[in-house]
Amino acid sequence: MLSSSLIRPGARIRTLAATALLGLLAVFLLPVTPADASAPLRQHAAGRGKFIGTALATGPLSNETQYRTIAATEFSQITAENAMKWDATEPSQGQFNFSGADAIVDFATQNNQQVHGHTLVWHSQTPSWVQNLGATAMRTAMQNHISQVAGRYADNPALVSWDVVNEVFDDNGNLRTSFWYNTLGQSYIADAFRAARAADPDARLCINDYNVEGINAKSTAMYNLVSSLRQQGVPVDCVGFQGHLAIQYGFPNDLQQNLQRFADLGVQVRITELDVRMQMPRDSAKDATQATYYRNVVNACLAVTACAGVTIWGFTDKYSWVPDTFSGQGAALIYNESYQQKPSYTAVHDALAGGTSTDTTPPTAPGPPAATNITASSATLTWTASTDSGGSGLAGYTVYREQGSTDPQLGQSSTASVTLTGLSANTQYQVYVRARDGAGNLSTPSATATFTTTTGGGGPGGPCTATGTVQTQWNNGYVVQPVTVTNTGTAPTNGWTVTFTLPAGHTVTGSWNATLTTSGQTVTAKSLGYNGTLATGASTSFGFQASRPGGNTQTPSGYTCSAP
Ligand code: XIL
Repeated sequence: MLSSSLIRPGARIRTLAATALLGLLAVFLLPVTPADASAPLRQHAAGRGKFIGTALATGPLSNETQYRTIAATEFSQITAENAMKWDATEPSQGQFNFSGADAIVDFATQNNQQVHGHTLVWHSQTPSWVQNLGATAMRTAMQNHISQVAGRYADNPALVSWDVVNEVFDDNGNLRTSFWYNTLGQSYIADAFRAARAADPDARLCINDYNVEGINAKSTAMYNLVSSLRQQGVPVDCVGFQGHLAIQYGFPNDLQQNLQRFADLGVQVRITELDVRMQMPRDSAKDATQATYYRNVVNACLAVTACAGVTIWGFTDKYSWVPDTFSGQGAALIYNESYQQKPSYTAVHDALAGGTSTDTTPPTAPGPPAATNITASSATLTWTASTDSGGSGLAGYTVYREQGSTDPQLGQSSTASVTLTGLSANTQYQVYVRARDGAGNLSTPSATATFTTTTGGGGPGGPCTATGTVQTQWNNGYVVQPVTVTNTGTAPTNGWTVTFTLPAGHTVTGSWNATLTTSGQTVTAKSLGYNGTLATGASTSFGFQASRPGGNTQTPSGYTCSAP
């Protein structure tokens, strides 16, 4: 911009004309594929000002040429999958072993890559000699470990950042009652950051965790901790969102919003351990969904200025922690076991390249939508998923209302289901769904479904409605957010009450924007002072998190609203 204002108008026109001529020549002389279509991920990432990273295992790094070649060519940042953890670097007290860690740093240096150090203080992969120490000795051992390990690479320009503490929260957002916490109390966290700053004043210091990608009780606890540590002057520079996702548990659609709220605290954010697992066996529909997840994560990072980049937790399914950790699941990475690129590679590539794609094949049409949970103002639509074979992967769905010449959009979703809200009472809706892929190709429309909203008046005591959406779930828990409460009456509400049924064995572990009480399997959520008044047609929402027995897949049902 600045330079163009220095060019005389005539000169600028000649420049443009010359450029156009060159472009015309290029069209005739060069193949039609965009010049950088096959450029490696790191080149596109650099063009967007981000890193693209991978975790590396020292075994294949030492003896597999294909592994080394892809690691060197495609990625600009490296994390040691295990080689910098405590059990590797200080297996017995004061006996340091940096062979694996050095191999990672040397490889990165040779290939002009950065290294993210992982991890200084964690409850896992830490030898029992540490765990058995008393408080004073444990604090000293922690400080010495940080000083030796972070200190070793302090002057090495490749090593740019550290996970200082890892996974300090449990799934409910309480500080994890690890041996660190049980022996030292919460202060070990601030002490670890201060020791890391002293050992390597130039490294960016991160706190890292999983299940914090969406806005939920755990990520909110992380947010509050980071905010309070920084207020106390503790040097927390960065928050790592691991990103161990699974296609069967849904995508955290508020990832970008969540990254942004941390960024607004003044910290850098990054995706540190991305993988997207699936129930085996792999098939093309699962691959397409997985590609969507990868694309969405990269796009969320691209959309947040303070997001430094995305690291994938390994790159080939040949070496992934997933099958060993999550029984029956796998195929979580962007290359298969034979180092072939998967649709998820294309998704990451094209997202980094700014959507560049040669994909002109639209996804298949979605199945006909089925409407359930119909209220005066909302309905849930579910359909059979589309598949996409054009390479850019399925990106999501749009629901339209059939209404003549221009059919308005009623909703969008990245999964094969959506809850439509804001509908008019006692109204017939004819709706259909179209899928779109990462290149923007639209499928042909699904068959049309017809449903009629109820007349309003709400549940017992009405007139209001409530619908709950499961935002994210994992093996033994889930987050319901939003539970949308809508006044379908003709007068403002003066407080509202929502009840719903919790499946047997489930426990509510946290909630926000409502007060929840549980009696048997019935949960009662009451509005708070600031959200009890809803004008006619207005909505508000609350959320909650619950735990459930491992392997149980049920979620709450029967949301009913009443207002005096
Ligand atoms: C995993 C490694 O991938 C495995 O090889 C190892 O056996 C266990 O740890 N969160 C983290 C990572 O912060 O360090 C973990 O890595 C995966 C979960």
